Amino acid sequence: MSTGIQNSDIVLRSPTADDAASLHRLIAECPPLDPNSLYCNLLHCTHFSSTSIAAVTGNEPEHQRLVGFISAYIPPGQPDTLFVWQVAVADEARGKGLARRMLDSILERPVCADVRYVDTTITPGNQASWALFESWARHHGAETTSRVHFEKERHFEGRHDDEHLMRIGPFEIAAESAT
Ligand SMILES: CC(C)(COP(=O)(O)OP(=O)(O)OC[C@H]1O[C@@H](n2cnc3c(N)ncnc32)[C@H](O)[C@@H]1OP(=O)(O)O)[C@@H](O)C(=O)NCCC(=O)NCCS
Repeated sequence: MSTGIQNSDIVLRSPTADDAASLHRLIAECPPLDPNSLYCNLLHCTHFSSTSIAAVTGNEPEHQRLVGFISAYIPPGQPDTLFVWQVAVADEARGKGLARRMLDSILERPVCADVRYVDTTITPGNQASWALFESWARHHGAETTSRVHFEKERHFEGRHDDEHLMRIGPFEIAAESAT
């Protein structure tokens, strides 16, 4: 982890299709995240743009570098829930509260005005992910529950660890202007 990037150098915004290739590279650099196809990343950056977020350094579009990303969506039929799919922060931008800042920023958008819960799935061994979401819940005074959701043998044919569903909430976050 380096101290090179300052929080003030990082701009948060909704992703566009032009971020997908950088997102694909960022995910590859952030084990244990599952790499998705570039096409899947294009869908994150377009269909799910309003509930996902890109953290970039540099103001000029041609010089921007993607250092953080959250892909998330409001599941069909669950307007009170934001499902967080992947959180990725580049090594040099870690430890500065960027993951927490990105999640707050999504939830402050008008599109999340009715959201009272965050759902995410985490493998038992991903300590950073448990720590991030437990810390975020503490910060917002929200309760957490977790239970096995997708099972190693039953759903992943033994090729992936169990995924535990962590549910955080209820909470209230005031909507601000869109980012
Ligand atoms: C997990 C990850 C997103 C954290 O990003 P970050 O910007 O460094 O996280 P933040 O600085 O916002 O930290 C938020 C909280 O999580 C905790 N945390 C973050 N990384 C941690 C780690 N590796 N071990 C223990 N706690 C960690 C922080 O201590 C902080 O809690 P605190 O304020 O109560 O001390 C980043 O390390 C990453 O991309 N890892 C690889 C991919 C991954 O595992 N993603 C998460 C699953 S989707």
